[in-house]
Amino acid sequence: MLSFGAAALSAFVLGAGLVQADGPVHTPRVLVFTGTTGFRHDSIPTAIEVLGQNADRFGISFNFTEDKGAFNDNYLKNFDGLLFVSASGEDVLDQDGQDAFHRYVQSGGHYMGVHCAATALTNSTMFRQTQGGIFNYHPSFQNATFLKLDDNHPSTVNLPKEWRYPEEVYFFANNPRNEKAIVYLTVNESSFNNDGGDGGPNQGSPHPIAWGIESPYSAVPLLAGAPGAGRTFYTGLGHANETWHDEVFIGHIFGGLAWTLDGATTKAYGVGIVGSDLPLKPKPVPVAAPDVNVTNGPAAPSVSNAQPSGSGASLSAPLASALVLGAALIGAIACAL
Ligand SMILES: *[C@@H]1O[C@H](CO)[C@@H](O)[C@H](O)[C@H]1NC(C)=O
Ligand SMILES: *[C@@H]1O[C@H](CO)[C@@H](O)[C@H](O)[C@H]1NC(C)=O
Ligand SMILES: *[C@@H]1O[C@H](CO)[C@@H](O)[C@H](O)[C@H]1NC(C)=O
Ligand SMILES: *[C@@H]1O[C@H](CO)[C@@H](O)[C@H](O)[C@H]1NC(C)=O
Ligand SMILES: *[C@@H]1O[C@H](CO)[C@@H](O)[C@H](O)[C@H]1NC(C)=O
Ligand SMILES: *[C@@H]1O[C@H](CO)[C@@H](O)[C@H](O)[C@H]1NC(C)=O
Repeated sequence: MLSFGAAALSAFVLGAGLVQADGPVHTPRVLVFTGTTGFRHDSIPTAIEVLGQNADRFGISFNFTEDKGAFNDNYLKNFDGLLFVSASGEDVLDQDGQDAFHRYVQSGGHYMGVHCAATALTNSTMFRQTQGGIFNYHPSFQNATFLKLDDNHPSTVNLPKEWRYPEEVYFFANNPRNEKAIVYLTVNESSFNNDGGDGGPNQGSPHPIAWGIESPYSAVPLLAGAPGAGRTFYTGLGHANETWHDEVFIGHIFGGLAWTLDGATTKAYGVGIVGSDLPLKPKPVPVAAPDVNVTNGPAAPSVSNAQPSGSGASLSAPLASALVLGAALIGAIACAL
């Protein structure tokens, strides 16, 4: 049962625009994969719904699949990016699918992983290189305080200085920095109970939570004719339904996705060999910075509209969205690994 008591109003204004030169606007197309052969998160349907509901607002279009047969060169090349939302299992893609995934990123296609995607393809050194991190363990679902290491990255620009809400805090089996990741978000280790876990001795410090990997480190070597490997991004957040309805989290997810898609290695940039076959650069605009430092639970701070940056005249289509969210969350749901 959800409680919608203790609710807070959050007015969150977003600049969702596409940079337009002359001619048609290109909306980047992203394939969302939620296949699971490992633990299956019951927030997956919520994630699909929320991504779909926010697609227009952020100028991104989504296709959704759980079919590992989608992982072939011909199909993947339609997309500017792939988004794994809690896809799980060491065998969630077969070898042919993994090879197609690898060629896609080597060709300049972008990738983003969310939460339990750190438990996908755990045997694959290719996938570790692309995603940057492999899951180790998590303590129980509880409040934790996330801290940004970069105030200006699109994935963190809308986050409060200290972001406290209930989450499954993931520990990783490896250090994403060894895969050339830049960490944008971390967690205060003193802000939650580690339940006796080993503290992720291999993950590096401070505790990585969200990061990005630039070309070419996301997938080497490049495929012949590719301008660069795709950008990749991962966030460990996104366990619970309530989180997917939190405007702060939505800003984090779409900001990470916007940054990833802006890697300029796809056909839309006139240089790539994968992605939508359209001439214009996609430019989803991230959300604005908050004017408060701390949140407690899913209530979001008020923010003002962000001015899109970048070249060309911008078509800004700001939307004001007010959400009333319950602060009460349900107890522990374990990613049973
Ligand atoms: C999360 O939402 C899904 C439906 O989208 C529902 O089936 C599931 O029970 C919810 N989980 C919890 C813990 O409420
Ligand atoms: C994506 O979904 C749209 C419908 O929303 C469909 O028309 C289109 O063919 C799909 N694209 C691919 C590559 O499957
Ligand atoms: C992954 O590695 C483990 C340990 O070597 C092995 O038992 C398992 O069969 C491998 N899984 C796949 C899908 O290759
Ligand atoms: C998180 O903190 C809030 C506010 O103190 C509290 O109401 C809530 O029960 C906590 N959630 C969890 C899962 O501990
Ligand atoms: C981390 O949390 C602890 C306990 O709440 C607090 O004393 C400390 O100042 C926090 N550290 C940072 C860097 O926010
Ligand atoms: C947020 O924190 C910064 C630096 O810690 C401080 O200068 C600023 O006044 C704070 N803003 C609010 C709204 O509390």
